[in-house]
Amino acid sequence: MNTDLSPEKAAAHAAEHWSNVTTAGSARGRWWQVPAIVRHINERVCGEPLNGLSAGARQWVVDTIPELPLDRGIAIGGGNGVKEMDLITAGIVRTVDVFEVAPARVAQGKEVAMERGLSDRVTFHERLLDPGEDIGRYDLVHWNNALHHMLDVDEWLAWSRRVLNPGGVLLLDDFVGATRFQWSRRQLDYASSFRRTLPDALLVDHRYPDRHLPCEIARPTITQMLASDPTEAADSGRILASLRRHFPEAEVRATGGVIYHLALSDSVANFERGVHDTLLEVALLLDDALSDLGETHYAVALGRIPAAAHSEIRDPGPRPAPSVPTGQGARSFGLRTRARGLRLFRRARQRALGIVRTIGSRN
Ligand SMILES: C[S@@+](CC[C@H](N)C(=O)[O-])C[C@H]1O[C@@H](n2cnc3c(N)ncnc32)[C@H](O)[C@@H]1O
Repeated sequence: MNTDLSPEKAAAHAAEHWSNVTTAGSARGRWWQVPAIVRHINERVCGEPLNGLSAGARQWVVDTIPELPLDRGIAIGGGNGVKEMDLITAGIVRTVDVFEVAPARVAQGKEVAMERGLSDRVTFHERLLDPGEDIGRYDLVHWNNALHHMLDVDEWLAWSRRVLNPGGVLLLDDFVGATRFQWSRRQLDYASSFRRTLPDALLVDHRYPDRHLPCEIARPTITQMLASDPTEAADSGRILASLRRHFPEAEVRATGGVIYHLALSDSVANFERGVHDTLLEVALLLDDALSDLGETHYAVALGRIPAAAHSEIRDPGPRPAPSVPTGQGARSFGLRTRARGLRLFRRARQRALGIVRTIGSRN
């Protein structure tokens, strides 16, 4: 999607925007503030319902890569670098270079690194990195909710392969959904169809308790997206196709989001532990079904380039088209899971309706 943005201009906007978001969970009503959803995602990634953001991805690395810790890691858009520090404490990597353009996030990260006794193992670079710059070689490239902020994801995935040493590892845990949040008609229908089953109490707008959230989910306008953060989901719809191109050996695990990210957006703030647990479970079952149908917002990918191969000698093939249309996931994750997904979706929606009727008759 061409928005005539230079990387410098976009990064300057992002730096300002992200300097005001100094804590990971300042906005209520987001899925990452709900431990049950985080555990669900972790279970999809590594088979265990672990607590903590990206804990599943870390466990997957620990279970898969025999020679840990890796020596040198790098992350672009690392924010306060906490997830990179978590990689160090999990024994996955010894040292990490974090490139981040928002000064407040870097300042916060340096404090956290000091508190965790990791200042000598995490180096913050408060600047924009040019993918053509020679910064040497690394053993781990980590993208965590940051690749979707790059203006050209194909260029950055090519860079990721180029900077990796033979045997180097790519770990990606990111938003891979529609560019600039221009949700497909199909995803909007699935999300709205679930939203309509929710009881009124779960549709109260937690920011303005006298208002209700809309039942019909809509796309933001491109103008709204650009005004808030011009790097947000700038080219995210191409991530999966570009990943296949540059890291054909990577395994991708879809972690969903059509329900927990789209349908439950803001509504999750109203879910009470012990009261709405079953409904949340069903929501996540629906989300699984949609992931199996190829409709996902998030994915975790783990790839290791062969020890003997040099990244620059392989031809990655033609660049993927500028934006990946509806149903991208179906191609990426295989049609064989679609039938299972459809069956699960229908069953879970029926179950959700049953639960909502029970809650309704109790209130
Ligand atoms: C969604 S946040 C994720 C931060 C961190 N990886 C995490 O998961 O907590 C995206 C971050 O990317 C940063 N960013 C955006 N564009 C960037 C660029 N071109 N270079 C470096 N950082 C960038 C933003 O300032 C922001 O801190």
